[in-house]
Amino acid sequence: MATPLIIDTDPGVDDAFAIALAARSPEVDLIGLTTVFGNVALDLTTRNALRLLAHLGRTDVPVVRGAEGPAGAADVHGEDGLGGQAHTLPESDREIFSDDVVGFFRERLTPETVVVAIGPQTNIAKALDAGVEFPKLIVMGGGLDVGNTTTRAEFNFWADPAAARTVIRKGNPIVVPLNLTHRCIADAEFLARVDPVLSNLTGTYSAYLRDRSDNRGIYFHDAVAVAEAIVPGTLTTKSHVLDVDDEGALVRGKHQVEVAEDTDWPALRTFMEQRLSV
Ligand code: BDR
Ligand code: CA
Repeated sequence: MATPLIIDTDPGVDDAFAIALAARSPEVDLIGLTTVFGNVALDLTTRNALRLLAHLGRTDVPVVRGAEGPAGAADVHGEDGLGGQAHTLPESDREIFSDDVVGFFRERLTPETVVVAIGPQTNIAKALDAGVEFPKLIVMGGGLDVGNTTTRAEFNFWADPAAARTVIRKGNPIVVPLNLTHRCIADAEFLARVDPVLSNLTGTYSAYLRDRSDNRGIYFHDAVAVAEAIVPGTLTTKSHVLDVDDEGALVRGKHQVEVAEDTDWPALRTFMEQRLSV
């Protein structure tokens, strides 16, 4: 049986690839997208989720509108969240399924369901506070002694530190931090080989990184987290004792957390290339 999968997301350029990877992988059954503010405002992340599903031919997948908050990464992901290219995806006139994320989790989670959270952790924390138990939760966020929004804090955790703290303390997640995802770069050669509609979304993101580093592609943060849901064991994890501080930095604390530390990136890159090619 395919593993039921829900992605909590703020698309987002690397979110777009993560959603496509799930939609095109038979090992998982994408049963919902829950949206959250983050890279851009909630209206845009929700609209982008609907458009991406239309592009992927997956208008059967319900989209649940989640938490609002201050948007923060238009400089990386573009004003529309998809590198100024959201208009190249089909416009969707589909209605959102609901705006009750906690209710959706309550209704849809089974013991087999995996939830991968690739935006600010606001929806997941609300659900945990409401007593929802996630059978398996994979979270892209944080960094051990590394940040990308401040020198210490990663974007998803920085955007809602209290929510990230709740997830670390109560969610029993596998955390996929920057230390790993910074080693997982979709470079120009990779982007030239996969779905051109998706690659076309990466211009703003790759220009942003090119201006600041020798990176000639984009970090594939969110797709790396989703890969662990598709093929468990893709990422090697190690237990750490952690917490999240008020800045959103992952720090040493009292809570036992599995942290993804390594992967065979050349093999994972090949796997992703196969799945994302059209
Ligand atoms: C995370 O922040 C967002 O900008 C990306 O989509 C990813 O989820 C990386 O720090
Ligand atoms: Ca994201």
